[in-house]
Amino acid sequence: MIDQTISRRDARHIYDNLGHALDRAERFEARAKELALNLLAAGPGQQVLHVGVGTGAEHAALQHAVAPNGLVVGCDLSRGMLQLTRLRADTPLCEGDAARLPFQTHRFDRLFSAYMLDLLPLAEIPLVLAEFRRVLQPGGQLVLVSLTTGVDVPSRCFVAGWTLLYRIAPQRLGGCRPLQLSDMLQQAGFAVERHVVVQRGFPSEVLLGRASKIQASGFRFQ
Ligand SMILES: C[S@@+](CC[C@H](N)C(=O)[O-])C[C@H]1O[C@@H](n2cnc3c(N)ncnc32)[C@H](O)[C@@H]1O
Repeated sequence: MIDQTISRRDARHIYDNLGHALDRAERFEARAKELALNLLAAGPGQQVLHVGVGTGAEHAALQHAVAPNGLVVGCDLSRGMLQLTRLRADTPLCEGDAARLPFQTHRFDRLFSAYMLDLLPLAEIPLVLAEFRRVLQPGGQLVLVSLTTGVDVPSRCFVAGWTLLYRIAPQRLGGCRPLQLSDMLQQAGFAVERHVVVQRGFPSEVLLGRASKIQASGFRFQ
């Protein structure tokens, strides 16, 4: 997997300026996101955290799913993306970093994050997954979506071209590069169900993770 990534500063700059142009990615991502929302199966009354909200389309769908008495909270690095999400959904939103979520332990029943981990350095992903685990209830579920490696000839060619461009100008690709996250998610204490969805050659990994009911305490015998 590619370790090179863009900085937080660059990510914030790109997404603050991208606006609704980000929605053009839907023609590559819509099917994966539809599956992801179905797997998450958020329902009325649940507390859901959405990390990396983008322009808010999935955020609005999540808000609809938990109505009338549930709550969806959004978190994103980019103030510009949060402003666009605010136009689509009336929910609490916070400017923040996935690596340091400003929420209590075990606060949420469900967590959703699409094409956000793609931007993070490899070494940081386990820390972010541990943070996701921390804020989820024992037995809670998350769904992660990311660009991944190809699974057939068209998607392998697509990813080869993407990777070449990424190495030259990662900013042109919104900082996203292909990942395979199922092992890391398992190591973070989740039982994992993996799907790959290819749309127009663009392969997305959709992972459903169920947090075990016993939370690691960090306690060690001396
Ligand atoms: C490729 S976009 C995906 C947006 C949306 N989830 C979607 O699928 O359309 C990545 C999003 O993650 C946000 N983001 C990037 N790094 C982040 C971080 N460390 N913490 C929180 N959000 C981050 C960006 O600002 C942007 O909104």
